[in-house]
Amino acid sequence: MAFPKNFLWGGATAANQIEGAYDVDGKGLSVTDITTAGSLDKPRMLTYKLNGKLEKTPGIPGAGLPQGAVGAIDPNEYYPNHVAIDFYHHYKEDIKLFAEMGFKTFRLSIAWTRIFPNGDEEKPNQAGLDFYRRVFEECKKYGIEPLVTISHYEDPLYLSEKYHDWQDRKMIDLYVKYATTLFEEYKGLVKYWLTFNEINSAIMFLDMFADKVSDEDYQHAYQKLHYQFVASAKAVKKAHEIDPNYVVGNMICGIVNYPLTPDPKDILLNFHAWEKNLFYCGDVQAKGKYPTFAKRLWNEHNVHLDITDEDKKDLLEGKVDMYTFSYYMSNVITSHKVEDKVGGNFAAGAKNPYLKYSEWGWATDPDGLQYYLELMYDRYEIPMMVVENGLGAVDKISEDGKIHDDYRIDYLRMHIKAMNRAIEDGVDLIGYTTWGCIDLVSAGTGQMSKRYGFIYVDRDDEGNGSLKRMPKDSFYWYKKVIESNGKDLD
Ligand code: BG6
Repeated sequence: MAFPKNFLWGGATAANQIEGAYDVDGKGLSVTDITTAGSLDKPRMLTYKLNGKLEKTPGIPGAGLPQGAVGAIDPNEYYPNHVAIDFYHHYKEDIKLFAEMGFKTFRLSIAWTRIFPNGDEEKPNQAGLDFYRRVFEECKKYGIEPLVTISHYEDPLYLSEKYHDWQDRKMIDLYVKYATTLFEEYKGLVKYWLTFNEINSAIMFLDMFADKVSDEDYQHAYQKLHYQFVASAKAVKKAHEIDPNYVVGNMICGIVNYPLTPDPKDILLNFHAWEKNLFYCGDVQAKGKYPTFAKRLWNEHNVHLDITDEDKKDLLEGKVDMYTFSYYMSNVITSHKVEDKVGGNFAAGAKNPYLKYSEWGWATDPDGLQYYLELMYDRYEIPMMVVENGLGAVDKISEDGKIHDDYRIDYLRMHIKAMNRAIEDGVDLIGYTTWGCIDLVSAGTGQMSKRYGFIYVDRDDEGNGSLKRMPKDSFYWYKKVIESNGKDLD
């Protein structure tokens, strides 16, 4: 097996999906705090007041509120992120379990609203800073290296309303101030940082609603992305100034696209999907400039962006140190009419007859991961990390009181083998953090029943349960994988 000696094995989470304690110790409201529960058939909703009336709209992670709306909590709705798995009060127990598995790294995110409750305060909230310090110290106690996402789908609600979801360049400085606070505060405790989770989702998600979106939505998404690119680049520069040892990555939602047929129209459409959904964000963050095809993408939707010369300079000077991405599935693209479409996932393309789909419609495709790693490494030539990968499945407690999640072990085993092949082919892969190493609230559906963890958490989709933690079979399996540095996958 080819995994390098210091390979960073671990697991990944996000603040809003695990912490709970949504209004504790001075925390402000994030957009996720006004996002209701959903399911495969029922979208999550953002609840808000418009002209004094409580209303709701389908919410997708990272999306903003309608113009003029003020986010509000509806007492008749259930908000799964408010308690989540209460990591806020269980972090010691959880990190101990991660250490038992032998984690080398733990990916978690910081809730911006714990540090700056509205997002634009002069001074940070000390209780928020202290909480993450305790968490990082707990990780360090076990030799676990924190891998920290600065923004994971949870902008401060106040900023989202005021600047209509990143439609104002003032967001850049607010973000950079927040990131700088973290870089200074946790110097010596944290080494690896990610600026934005799945930054490309702003564009990618539009395809899911293709029949409903207008040019205005594209204008909004591309402008938001531009401000986030600049914010990310300025943060990278700051990080390096504060500590030259800091390693900063981007974070891309990595969905592999295949053409359905050899029809050249399909080939071209598929290639353009790679450009729009993946290379566009990857290039700006890793090469420091917009690719030539960007103009075509903007023209397609009559997009005119506010980009200054100063911005271009920042992008060039703030290139990321590593390419990090999530990988769950592949997607099939075609210009032909197809009956057999896949529902329930981010891609919503045609069905691939060669692949199996999860209960939530996500295609299991380990070869796609190898393909993605090799393609992107060749394009960017910087170290890579898979910072999310896993199978969301319903787990049942068996008669012996245990959870025998062979399906999860099979899924992870196949993907680890794929990473191994990519490393043998020369890819500089430095780490792997499986998604939802402990059961957590699904970002897409808000369900607890869509479980990814090595550790089961007793909590259901309605908020019942003791929150008790219990290792699944996969827990002991992953421990062996880490112990053997990826050799023992049985
Ligand atoms: C990624 C996100 O898109 O996929 C995570 O970064 C998310 O926040 C994960 O939880 C899995 O998606 P879901 O919808 O199953 O939670």
